[in-house]
Amino acid sequence: MKKVFSAFYYLRYRLTATNTHGVHSPFVFDLLNTVVYNKVDYYAFSEIEALRLQLLQNQTSLTCIDLGAGSRTSTGSARSIMYITRYAAKPAKYAQLLFRLVNHFQPGHILELGTSMGISTCYMAKANNQATVITIEGCPEIAQAAEQNFKKLDIKNIQQVIGNFDDVLPEVLKQTPKTDFVFFDGNHRKEATLNYFSQCLNKADEQSVFVFDDIYWSPQMKEAWDEIKNHPRVTVTIELFFIGIVFFRKEQVKQHFVIRF
Ligand SMILES: C[S@@+](CC[C@H](N)C(=O)[O-])C[C@H]1O[C@@H](n2cnc3c(N)ncnc32)[C@H](O)[C@@H]1O
Repeated sequence: MKKVFSAFYYLRYRLTATNTHGVHSPFVFDLLNTVVYNKVDYYAFSEIEALRLQLLQNQTSLTCIDLGAGSRTSTGSARSIMYITRYAAKPAKYAQLLFRLVNHFQPGHILELGTSMGISTCYMAKANNQATVITIEGCPEIAQAAEQNFKKLDIKNIQQVIGNFDDVLPEVLKQTPKTDFVFFDGNHRKEATLNYFSQCLNKADEQSVFVFDDIYWSPQMKEAWDEIKNHPRVTVTIELFFIGIVFFRKEQVKQHFVIRF
């Protein structure tokens, strides 16, 4: 059912999404040209993709605790690193966009909900090594595997937190001065997503950037995304189907862009 739902909205997205030609906002036009459609092959990309390839061949089995909205492909508790990487990690195209967003906005305090093997974490941490990247993962064995990956790439600006977002997020946010950049990539339930959003919003300012994954994964996620778009503090949103990017810039007129990517 979720597959049919996503397929319908994907078709709608393909038919309605525009590129820079349909965009009149100078902020969004510039962002599309310099960040979204940027083709530069940054040095970090090949390192992280080499790591992904290694993980895609790793048959080590981990005991997984599923705290999120569940996976479409497996409900079992033992999964290989290969399987987790294949189904949970953001594909290079989107993970590299996260890198470019961080590289462009240079956020000092980055927060990720959903580490998994740490592929997206590595991209964000490498994009600004002066930033502190806090990444939360509920499954201890997965978090340990991610820690090994951060060591392999010699990344020093990542702080891992292990626990259910519901339990640990309030404490993490207490210790975080600001939420300059947040990647929401776990527990794709409406109420949970809106709850994490509103908690992170308390530490956000006009310059903050929030990125939501899988906004059309299910009817619940679409409802959450619609509420986020309509939130009074949200001004510009950019939808690339698989992810949605949210801005709070007060000088911008409230506007929602559906962009081909
Ligand atoms: C889609 S994966 C993250 C992928 C990663 N951001 C990447 O692109 O490489 C989502 C992760 O969030 C974790 N997760 C889901 N719900 C959670 C919750 N309520 N608390 C803590 N972790 C959770 C899962 O264990 C899973 O590893």
